[in-house]
Amino acid sequence: MTWDSGPGTAVVTGASSGIGAEYAGQLAVRGWDLVLVARRDERLTALRDEVRGRTRDTVEVETLVADLSRPDDLARVARRVAAQDVSLLVNNAGINGYGPFTEAEPELLAKVVEVNVVAPTALSRAALPGMLARGRGAVINVASLLAFAGGLPPGPLPHRAVYGGTKGYVVTFTRTLAAELAGTPVRVQVVCPGLTATEFHLGRGETPVPGAPRTHDDGGMPAADVVTASLAALSAGEVVCVPGLRDASAVDRLAAAELGLRDGSGPSLASRYRTVEHPGA
Ligand SMILES: NC(=O)c1ccc[n+]([C@@H]2O[C@H](COP(=O)([O-])OP(=O)(O)OC[C@H]3O[C@@H](n4cnc5c(N)ncnc54)[C@H](OP(=O)(O)O)[C@@H]3O)[C@@H](O)[C@H]2O)c1
Repeated sequence: MTWDSGPGTAVVTGASSGIGAEYAGQLAVRGWDLVLVARRDERLTALRDEVRGRTRDTVEVETLVADLSRPDDLARVARRVAAQDVSLLVNNAGINGYGPFTEAEPELLAKVVEVNVVAPTALSRAALPGMLARGRGAVINVASLLAFAGGLPPGPLPHRAVYGGTKGYVVTFTRTLAAELAGTPVRVQVVCPGLTATEFHLGRGETPVPGAPRTHDDGGMPAADVVTASLAALSAGEVVCVPGLRDASAVDRLAAAELGLRDGSGPSLASRYRTVEHPGA
C-alpha cells in the first residue's frame, strides 16, 4: 500500500497562506479530505470554501484555528492528528524571527523554536503510532535550504541563526526518523525549499500577516512548484526533497561526506589537538 492509496484525511499546518495553502489545494484535487490548521480563522474559512467549490463538495474540509506556539492549542491539534482517519500530516507552519541574534527578543526566538521544532515533533509523535498500526501514512516536514546553507558564503547570510538552526533540526530529525521507520509502510519526508514566493518575508511571525493574501517582493519559486516536487518525491520515496535541485545526486554526495566524517573519527584524540599546552599530550 502506498502513502496515497485511497486518499484519507490530511492535516496541513500553516494552511492559511503560501506553501501550506498550496498543499491543501493540490491534496484536495487528489481527493484528500483536509484539516486546515493556522491562526487566521478567516483565511482558513475562505480556503475551505474555495476548496469545496473547486472540488464540487467531494472532499471534507475542517478548519482548526490554533496557535502552535501555545501548548494547549498544540495539544488540541495533536489530538486531531492522532485520530484514525489521518494518513498524511504536513508540518508546514513556520516563522522566521529574523533579526540580529544579540538584539532579538528572547520571547520571539523561543517562539521560532516552538513553531518550527516543538510543534512538528509533537505532531509527528501524535500521528505516527496510528499510522504504523494501520500500516499506512506519511509525514512531510517543511524545512529550508537554509538548513544547509545558513552559514555559507557569501555572507554568511545574516540574522537568521535560530531560524537556520530550527530547519537544521527538521532535516536531521526527519532523516533520522526515516532510518528508524525503514521497513515500515510509513514514509517521512523533509522538503527543503529555497526562496519561495509567499508571505514569509512580510513579517517575523510573532503575529499573523494582516490583510489580503499577497506575496513578498523577494521573488522565488512559486509555492505550487514546491508542493508539486514534494508530492512527487513522496511517491518516489525520496526522504530529502529539494525542489530546485537540478542534480539530485548532490543529496547522495552529502550523505557520503557525512559517512566519511563519521568513519574518519575514532576513539583516540586527533593529533592536531595534541598540543604542548594539553596535559594529555
Ligand atoms: N517562503 C520561503 O522563502 C521559504 C523558504 C524555505 C522554507 N520555507 C518554509 O515554508 C513553510 C511555509 O512558509 P511560507 O513560505 O508558505 O510562508 P507563509 O505564507 O508566511 O506561511 C506560514 C504559515 O504558517 C502559519 N503559522 C505561523 N505561525 C503559526 C503559529 N504560531 N501557529 C499556527 N500556524 C502558524 C501561518 O498562518 P497564520 O499566520 O494564520 O497562523 C501561515 O499559514 C515554513 O515552514 C517556512 O519556514 C519558506
